[in-house]
Amino acid sequence: MTRVALAFSGGLDTTVCVPLLEEEYGYDDVIGVTVDVGQPESEFDEAEETAEALGLEHYVVDAKEEFADLCFESVRANATYQGYPLGTALARPVIASAILEVAEEQGCTGIAHGCTGKGNDQLRFEAIWRDSDLEVIAPVRELGLTREWENEYAEEKDLPVEGGGGGKWSVDTNLWSRSVEGSELEDPSYVPGEEIYNWTQAPSGDTEEIEIEFDEGYPVAIDGEAYEPIELIQHLNELAGAYGVGRTDSMEDRMLGLKVRENYEHPAATTLLNAHEALEGLVLTQEEREFKQLIDQKWSKKGYEGLVDAPLVGALEGFIAETQNRVTGTVTIRFEGGQARAVGRDSKYAAYSAEHASFNTETVGKISQEDATGVAKYHGFQRRLANESIAANQDEEVELATDGGEE
Ligand code: ARG
Repeated sequence: MTRVALAFSGGLDTTVCVPLLEEEYGYDDVIGVTVDVGQPESEFDEAEETAEALGLEHYVVDAKEEFADLCFESVRANATYQGYPLGTALARPVIASAILEVAEEQGCTGIAHGCTGKGNDQLRFEAIWRDSDLEVIAPVRELGLTREWENEYAEEKDLPVEGGGGGKWSVDTNLWSRSVEGSELEDPSYVPGEEIYNWTQAPSGDTEEIEIEFDEGYPVAIDGEAYEPIELIQHLNELAGAYGVGRTDSMEDRMLGLKVRENYEHPAATTLLNAHEALEGLVLTQEEREFKQLIDQKWSKKGYEGLVDAPLVGALEGFIAETQNRVTGTVTIRFEGGQARAVGRDSKYAAYSAEHASFNTETVGKISQEDATGVAKYHGFQRRLANESIAANQDEEVELATDGGEE
């Protein structure tokens, strides 16, 4: 008996995959696997109900802890892609690994997803799965299915596809972000209303300040209360979401080159990323901050690609860990007008001296202000010489041109 494990959500795509894996790919048995990375309860209910109606053997794996840990690694790397925090992207390798584990335990020889051939997720899933010997199957992509065809097929086969699914939008939710695309949003000029948002309120005039504590770059407490990563993220999503923090509307350049209009909500992620960067600003030296931007950018790129297990990422994290040793302290964040702005920071590792920088003291420790005079004389010296010679040569050319004109 041949078995195939299917990444299963209970939505239209993955539901039609179940009979197709038997009919078109010849498997005797399909098992569905849903991985919990912090989706709302309703999604599990939908998956469970659909699985039951299909008579599908269904597994639910809780990977929230692993995913939350990865989100926190992304905070240490200040990770964003084209301006938004990585949610979907970071979840995919976690989901893929969990499904692969179930597939191997259950003696499957195939592993399948319901992604189309247009998005990033097919690449992120398969990067993990193709490390194994299982047959990787992508029915929607391989059979060239459209939504319309899927709907007709589901009706014909009497598949349980009604209701649920979050309506007309295509939504992807996990602890770190909620992504909304499709339908009218496919028109980049379409201005969405409040109905696309679920985690964030439209910003009101209200404000609130909270204090976030970091230990070696990891968020550990809010307003003096310690939280485990999952709970900290959930708590902060609610706190910051109430002030409309973390909305993004962007034209995203996907890995295959397509541009796609994406809307996101990510209140906790935005708050933590802003706070973390503010603390780095206090403790890291200018040259560390400058160089770390390059490291962070590379980390983010690998994160976006779903390749966080690449050796490069391990090497980057070596550098990151070395800098994060000192990223311990607290940041005060103010929620205001849809923003989460750092308005105060404190660390015992501050590379800062109020006494040295102050307008009220005459000297910089043992250095007197006059000592800066010599530096000021040198500052911009080469450019002065270069500009003088450019100007002199221009004068000469003007003279020659004028002489030539007179002859
Ligand atoms: N484009 C984003 C990414 O690749 C997220 C896509 C989420 N999918 C959705 N149906 N909203 O990371």
